[in-house]
Amino acid sequence: MTSVKPPTLSRVIELQDVLWSVHGRTVLEIGALKVSAGERIALVGPNGAGKSTLLRLLAGAIVPTHGSLSVLERSPFRSLSGRERRFWRHEVGQVFQGLHLVSRLSALDNVCIGALGRLSGWRTWFRLFPYDITKQACEALQGVGLLGHKDTRVDRLSGGERQKVAIARLLLQQPKLILADEPTAALDPAAAAEVCRLLVQAARGATLLTVVHNTSLLPLIADRVIGLRQGRVAFDLPVGDVDDRALLALYQADTSRPSDQFQVALTAFSETRTQETAE
Ligand SMILES: Nc1ncnc2c1ncn2[C@@H]1O[C@H](COP(=O)(O)OP(=O)(O)OP(=O)(O)O)[C@@H](O)[C@H]1O
Ligand SMILES: [Mg+2]
Repeated sequence: MTSVKPPTLSRVIELQDVLWSVHGRTVLEIGALKVSAGERIALVGPNGAGKSTLLRLLAGAIVPTHGSLSVLERSPFRSLSGRERRFWRHEVGQVFQGLHLVSRLSALDNVCIGALGRLSGWRTWFRLFPYDITKQACEALQGVGLLGHKDTRVDRLSGGERQKVAIARLLLQQPKLILADEPTAALDPAAAAEVCRLLVQAARGATLLTVVHNTSLLPLIADRVIGLRQGRVAFDLPVGDVDDRALLALYQADTSRPSDQFQVALTAFSETRTQETAE
C-alpha cells in the first residue's frame, strides 16, 4: 500500500508522558507519540491493552491523569466551550461501531448530520438540510452502495450497513482526523475488507487511526502499525515491517487470548501480505 502523506507534514497528534489511571490502576502509559497529517495508523493489541482508552483520550472523552496531549494543536479536554465543541464535531470524525449514529433517524438524515458543523444553529434543531447537503448525502450513500436504503431507519440496517452509513457521513463531514474503534467488528471477511476500503477512501488525506483486531486487514487500512500491550507501546512500525514475530510477541504476552485464535489471525495476516506482494 502506498502512503498518502502530503509533502508538508503538520503534527496532528502529540502525546508526551501521558498516563491514564482509574481506581489507582494505570491503564495507559505512553512516553511519546507523534502522528503527522495524512498518516494511516492501525492500533493492535490484545483485549484490555488500552486501545479504546487511547482513542477516548484523543476524542476528549476522558482526561489524562498526567502528561500533555495535543490533537490538531489543541488540548481536547480543556476549555470545551460551545465553539470548541463545534470545532471538535467538525474536525474529528468518529466511527465507534456505528454508535454515533442516531438510531431512530434515516440513513440519509444520519449522513446529513455530518454537515452540521457547516450549518447554522436553527437548521440543526429542525434538521432542515439545504438541497446541496441532501444531494451530497445521496451521493455519499451511493458511494457506499446504500442509496436504496436512504429512507431506512438505521436501527433497521445490519451492522455492516450501519458502518457504511457512518463512513458516508464522514464524506460530508470531511474531518481532519478520523478515529475508528473496531469498525470491522462482527463483519464477514468480504464486508470487513469493503469497509476498510471505504474508510481509507473517505479519509482522503485526513489522518486515520483505526483499532483493528483482524490482523489480515492491516495492509488494507494502515501504513503504520502501533502495537499496544498492557497500556504501553510495544512496537511502532511501518506496516511492511510488521512480521509474525512482532505480532506473536504482542499477543502471546496476553494469556487470555486463545492461541488457536491467534494462529488463525496470524495465518490470515501472512496470506494477505503474500497476496499484496503478488499484486
Ligand atoms: N472507566 C473505566 N473504569 C475502569 N476500568 C477501565 C475503564 N476504562 C477502561 N478500563 C480498563 O482499562 C483497560 C483497557 O481498556 P480498553 O477498553 O482501552 O481496552 P482495549 O484494548 O480497547 O480492549 P478490547 O480489545 O477488548 O476492546 C481494561 O482493563 C479496562 O477494564
Ligand atoms: Mg476496545
